[in-house]
Amino acid sequence: KGLRVSDKGYLNTAVMRSEITFIDGDAGVLRYRGYPIEQLALHSSHLETAYLLIYGSLPSQPQLKVWEDEVMHHAVVHADAEQFFRSFRYDAHPMAILTSAFAYLGSYYSEANPSLQGQSLYTKGSPESFAVMDKQIYRLIGKATTLAAMAYRVRQGRNFVTPPTGLSYTGSFLYQMDYLGEENYKPNPVLEKALDVLFLLHADHELNASATTVLQTGSSLVDPYSAIAAGCASLYGPLHGGANEAVIRMLISIGSPANVPAFLEAVKKREKVLSGFGHRVYKTSDPRSFIVRKTADEVFRVTGKDELLETAMALHEAAMKDEYFIKRRLAPNVDFWYVFTSRLLPCKLNCSVLRSGLIYRAMGFPLDFFPVLFAVPRVVGWLAHWRQMMLQPGGVKIWRPRQIYVGETKREYVQSMNAL
Ligand code: CMC
Repeated sequence: KGLRVSDKGYLNTAVMRSEITFIDGDAGVLRYRGYPIEQLALHSSHLETAYLLIYGSLPSQPQLKVWEDEVMHHAVVHADAEQFFRSFRYDAHPMAILTSAFAYLGSYYSEANPSLQGQSLYTKGSPESFAVMDKQIYRLIGKATTLAAMAYRVRQGRNFVTPPTGLSYTGSFLYQMDYLGEENYKPNPVLEKALDVLFLLHADHELNASATTVLQTGSSLVDPYSAIAAGCASLYGPLHGGANEAVIRMLISIGSPANVPAFLEAVKKREKVLSGFGHRVYKTSDPRSFIVRKTADEVFRVTGKDELLETAMALHEAAMKDEYFIKRRLAPNVDFWYVFTSRLLPCKLNCSVLRSGLIYRAMGFPLDFFPVLFAVPRVVGWLAHWRQMMLQPGGVKIWRPRQIYVGETKREYVQSMNAL
């Protein structure tokens, strides 16, 4: 009574106050805790930015050292997890594996579970409760790369690699992906740095579908592993994190620049989707897409260019001139350029040997791994939002929207003939 469905898709509903990320979609502005994304991409690192997003200010040098050590120290997962990963089919989607792996991880840490430890575990504000919260944050960020690399290697039929010591966050990730037993193997530093920038750019994006899912799930006071698994599931969809995979599939289906006009006509008739374009908040270019494009150029210098790039350029150029897209203010989002970089970053074979797009495709990350490359850094943003909600003044209120029931009114049960 008195309810009305007013905002399908939450176009204009603010569900909380937040101090984490600011977006001005009309001006193309993105700031983490007040710092412009361009400055962070240029001067900071993914882990330093992670600290900023989660705790609210940039760390001092000693704080950064402790933070990096804690995260990297927690990268190792229990040896029994190998069995869990081996239980998936050889062709399982890596996002299905990663989503399950986050939930699985929670089963190891009963001290992190408010169902077992008391529902005020994270909301007490006591030093003990902060310590428990910090520990889960270290674990989730530290192990995200390990779980992702395990999801990758299990499908390749390879052995798992113990996270190395002495490498950066992305260096360790690339190592765990690529290592094939060579002595003194180190990932390519240009690619390691490029991936770090990409991770930083993907660390948070305020209340997108997955962050909202983490909060919605976390509002029942479930443990953070389950909340992150829920966020990861939400990210999997093609309108969100799955868009980077969809972009490449789209470009492969277009085939060549000559086919771009026909493809755009089909988009305008709503027969096809132009993946990697459009955004709920940005009505001009996504500021991250400029940084990603620059990063892509650096990567291309190491790896050579992808042959799909020409089709992408032609598509970009044609869409930006077309009245349909101009009127709707549709511009490339982060996924559009990102895919070229992530497509070229993977396995070492790619980086050292490959010089042609054809071989990139044969040897690169599988397309369906792209959303994983989005999920791993986004764990940071999910945790920042989750922590902020746990500590908000007045405690957590369960997120429970209302509906307007429009189904049948009361009916009398009649037993079906089949059931007799
Ligand atoms: N191609 C063609 N038309 C589009 C597109 C697109 N990619 N995106 C929006 N439109 C049209 C839409 O049909 C609508 O037209 P009309 O007013 O005539 O009905 C108009 O533009 C407004 O779009 P909307 O559907 O109201 O926008 P939304 O805020 O609900 O959806 C979106 C945002 C990102 C889901 C959508 O733009 C989309 O589906 N994009 C393609 C998928 C994609 O690239 N997703 C990644 C987003 S960025 C990273 C992330 O958040 O994960």
